[in-house]
Amino acid sequence: MKRTLYALIFTSTITSFLGCSTQEPAEQVASGGKGPKNDKIEKLIAQMTVDEKVGQLNFYVGDLFNTGPTVRTTESDKFNDLIKQGELTGLFNVHGAAYTRRLQQIAVEESRLGIPLLFGADVIHGFKTVFPIPLASAASWDMQAIEKAERVAAIESTAAGITFNFAPMVDISRDPRWGRMAEGAGEDPYLGSQVAMARVRGFQGESLSEAKTMAACVKHFAAYGAPEGGRDYNTVDMSERSLRETYLPPYKAGIDAGAATIMTSFNELNGVPASGNEFLLRDILRGEWGFKGMVVSDWQSINEMVAHGNVENIAEAASMALKAGVDMDMMGDAYLEEIPRLIEEGKFEEKHLDEAVRNVLKLKFDLGLFDDPYRYSDTARESQEIRAKQHLDVARDVAKRSIVLLKNEDHLLPLNKETGTIAVIGPLANNQADMNGTWSFFGEAQHPVTFLQGIKNVASPNTEVVYEEGCDLYDDSKDKIARAVSAARSADVVIMAVGESAVMNGEAGSRSNIQLPGIQLDLMKAVVATGKPVVAVVMSGRALDLSWLDENVASILEVWTLGSESGHAIADVLFGDYNPAGKLPVTFPRNVGQVPIYYNHKNTGRPYDGDYSEPKSERVYKSKYRDVQNTPLYPFGHGLSYSTFEYSDIRLSADTIGFDQTLKASVKVTNKGPYDGEEVVQLYVRDLVGSVTRPVKELKGFTKVMIKNGETKEVEFEITSDDLAFYTIDMTHKAEPGAFHLFIGSSSERVKQTGFYLKN
Ligand code: NOJ
Repeated sequence: MKRTLYALIFTSTITSFLGCSTQEPAEQVASGGKGPKNDKIEKLIAQMTVDEKVGQLNFYVGDLFNTGPTVRTTESDKFNDLIKQGELTGLFNVHGAAYTRRLQQIAVEESRLGIPLLFGADVIHGFKTVFPIPLASAASWDMQAIEKAERVAAIESTAAGITFNFAPMVDISRDPRWGRMAEGAGEDPYLGSQVAMARVRGFQGESLSEAKTMAACVKHFAAYGAPEGGRDYNTVDMSERSLRETYLPPYKAGIDAGAATIMTSFNELNGVPASGNEFLLRDILRGEWGFKGMVVSDWQSINEMVAHGNVENIAEAASMALKAGVDMDMMGDAYLEEIPRLIEEGKFEEKHLDEAVRNVLKLKFDLGLFDDPYRYSDTARESQEIRAKQHLDVARDVAKRSIVLLKNEDHLLPLNKETGTIAVIGPLANNQADMNGTWSFFGEAQHPVTFLQGIKNVASPNTEVVYEEGCDLYDDSKDKIARAVSAARSADVVIMAVGESAVMNGEAGSRSNIQLPGIQLDLMKAVVATGKPVVAVVMSGRALDLSWLDENVASILEVWTLGSESGHAIADVLFGDYNPAGKLPVTFPRNVGQVPIYYNHKNTGRPYDGDYSEPKSERVYKSKYRDVQNTPLYPFGHGLSYSTFEYSDIRLSADTIGFDQTLKASVKVTNKGPYDGEEVVQLYVRDLVGSVTRPVKELKGFTKVMIKNGETKEVEFEITSDDLAFYTIDMTHKAEPGAFHLFIGSSSERVKQTGFYLKN
């Protein structure tokens, strides 16, 4: 980077320099309007050299995730000079009130213009109090619980200096081979949008300028969840219609909920990498959606355009990304190294640079950093809030709500707390480190409650709880299986804790085999062969192939990865202190060959719903496999309860509605017992004939209701033509008149059905 000689020496802090306050409403700034804050931003930009401007776009990771001696080394060795020179806009994945305060002080007091730093982080499912992975909390279908958890995540991380959260990840994923399915809300655009909004509300609270809120970052824009073959970072190629109907809605929902920032994705989309994609960033994001916030690249994704092959070198990549509207360069140095030279050579217009700087400075203003740069680095608050009792309570609550009861033959669950002997077997049973799951830099390995501990805490003191590891998650040795079998033989019931470790999903965590990893299936088979009743507690960051378990095990709980309170939450469900109510946010296939498999698929010209009992001549030229049914093992929306919920037929307020009318659809849901419980009542529609083909079902609403044992509750949904809109043959977004099916039920398959017409 070319150095500039500064004529002006500034010693006062930015606060006194600008004499500003953050009383002005955030939207005034965000709207790019003419408010006093905008004037201040413009004045500041006018004083900045090109190098200082580029510095405001340059974002680095800190090389520490822990407190301790590393902090001191890093602090003095690496970043101080860059901050003083105005070459850094901020750092991410550094944390700690004292540490961030010291770094902030350098920026504010020792850099020429005193512009405060942003501290970012991947607070993906909690900070020190670790919540369930996002796929898990999405399975709660409980927006209040999700929002509350994200609020706590923001409270804890802002106390440790973090102002900018790289979450929520809202990428739709229909492919469980992709490891980052763990970080999203699953396969459905409607559920995904609701979850995106809840998370943004949780992180950002009422106002970004409050000290306990942080900027959300909707990611990864766009369609990162659809890589070919489920392989992370791979190519994405899809029609604009699929993009708009299935993949874009959750990003838009996050933006509409007020997300201050958005992150581009690693993938190319239809030939153009996302970080240089004007169609995505200019036409859709800023044009159609009116986004006024800040766009950050993903890690070196600007530079990676060279490998993608749409630019020759990093200079071209930097120029393309900045022009396309990527404001901040994460870890690439592409802007830092290339933009000043390009401007000097007259190859790049400074106005594009100014636009990006403006967006970054607005974010800093909106966060209140110009008002009080130290507001997020509060050691007193940090020591009070981190892992506060009430935060752990929230973690336990959302964790138990995230658990999905997949199968429960003969009401094996809930277990009696007075059971004589319980054998707890499996590589995840007494495993603390993996409970925090993927993306839990800040959660500490010694904190989570293991399954074993949770079970011991809740079972009666008279119950003997015996434990055997049975096998390792990675090592294929079968040496420990015999001991596990003998523990099972001694028990009245066996709980098998099996599944994936934390690193088996998440970023770069794609798998081509979605069965239980390693020799866990061998262990399961040996234990099941004892004839003892078995409950499988499956931990995973994706939909797994659980076909063997489904056929051979009495009860299956999908517990995903539950974080700090794992063991407590699991015990709450196993022993019936909490009646499970989670529902799958993704389809569970019968085998990996069915992937991609999702409930809202198209019908095809040769649909096949049969189970192979029909004569061969009836089914041979149908859309199907020769070796597996079309249906999934567990459909989207599936999840049992210890109670049975009975649905009445659907009552409609009319059988025909006009475009400006509202249809009311209601059902009565009765809890037939024997416990009180919650049920997620789901509404789907099917547009029977469209100018383009429509999915066989689309989720359009859901309500989670608490229904006491024996009680009946009426649940009503409202549907308007807006809910029926789609991208028609000419790509206009509107509903078309005609016949619709309407379904209400407890999953995408277990539904009551009726129909109505939409008329002009
Ligand atoms: C790369 C990941 O794709 C992104 O989600 C994350 O926020 C950044 N790394 C920073 O850690």
